[in-house]
Amino acid sequence: MKKVLMVCLGNICRSPLAEGILNSKVDKNDVTVDSAGTGGWHIGELPDSRSIEVAKNHQLDLSLQRCRKFSYSDFENFDIIYVMDKSNYKDVISIARNERDKQKVQLILNEVYTKQNLDVPDPYYGGDNGFENVYRMLDEACEVISKKLLVS
Ligand code: 4NP
Repeated sequence: MKKVLMVCLGNICRSPLAEGILNSKVDKNDVTVDSAGTGGWHIGELPDSRSIEVAKNHQLDLSLQRCRKFSYSDFENFDIIYVMDKSNYKDVISIARNERDKQKVQLILNEVYTKQNLDVPDPYYGGDNGFENVYRMLDEACEVISKKLLVS
């Protein structure tokens, strides 16, 4: 079983979408996908209604997800930790205990745009359009990730 964790700041906008999208592209017998946030403001809450709506428009259901905070124990429990932006990267790396932990952390868009260190923009304070844009970026990245997981 491969275990993939999606991480953003709030765990209500980007990483829940990433979790839902990747889950829809993999065999659940082979891959576990979860998400978490580096910030603790929304623990226990549903994803943002705008993420739920965009997901629904693409036949994905995020309504069983609940927000949780990233913890250093996630370095033990997951094989790959995908972060949405460079700020998440810095926050997650700052609690890594060793080199092995650090190597698990990747910027998700580097799977599509190798080594360009591009961010998935935070749509929280933007308009609804930002969520569809985020969906498209994450769908593209998760397509690549799902194919890599098949051969790894
Ligand atoms: P996310 O967006 O990191 O994509 O979930 C955010 C959601 C909430 C907050 C920040 C970012 N917040 O500050 O509450």
